[in-house]
Amino acid sequence: NELNLKLILIGDSNVGKTTILLNYIQNDFNEFMNPTLGLENRVKIVDIQGFKAKVQIWDTAGQEKFNALTQQFFRNTDGILLIFDLTDKNSFNNIKKWLNDVKANSDHSIKKILIGNKSDMKDQICVTKNMIDNFCNEKELKYMEVSAKNNENVSNAFETLINEIIGNRTNDEILEDFGINDHTLSLSYSNINYLTSSKKKKCC
Ligand code: GTP
Repeated sequence: NELNLKLILIGDSNVGKTTILLNYIQNDFNEFMNPTLGLENRVKIVDIQGFKAKVQIWDTAGQEKFNALTQQFFRNTDGILLIFDLTDKNSFNNIKKWLNDVKANSDHSIKKILIGNKSDMKDQICVTKNMIDNFCNEKELKYMEVSAKNNENVSNAFETLINEIIGNRTNDEILEDFGINDHTLSLSYSNINYLTSSKKKKCC
């Protein structure tokens, strides 16, 4: 069975979006990264609860001139990784702006996870746990700290988001919910939408 998911990484320029993606896809770290121009995507096949999930991950450009382009991509996205740099307070403050952009440009509630990157730079961390806790409580966000350089917690972060999206369902529940018993199980937004509306019909 195959599950199709679309994820997107957003956050300010230089927070480490491309590095996180490359680390997740190919366990790589490169100190000299070019800024992303526009959008790039990679696909990873992940095993989830016995299903093969085809996870398409879009890496976006943090530079402001690309914002309009990025915003067009929120529409049929299943999950968003909101990324900031633990050593850069501005990038944390700007998460609010990124959240507003998502809200203004999506027509459904997309699962989100907040990621503080560069946890290896211990001496330079200036975004405090307190600030992060308060923000996450206010916005009801899950939070994870990662280091793409040291390969710490990166796959964990992706898996947490993916599990949120599939709602920790068991295999049988996934099949039952989506009513699909052939080879393709697509969990794209259109199916979720279909699922919610058909469920509503049943119970009313
Ligand atoms: P844009 O493409 O401009 O949006 O930037 P980006 O968010 O994709 O950042 P990118 O991945 O290009 O990384 C920016 C810089 O941060 C690079 O020099 C990376 O090597 C560095 N970097 C990324 N992740 C880490 C990390 O976990 N630890 C440390 N120490 N450096 C990191």
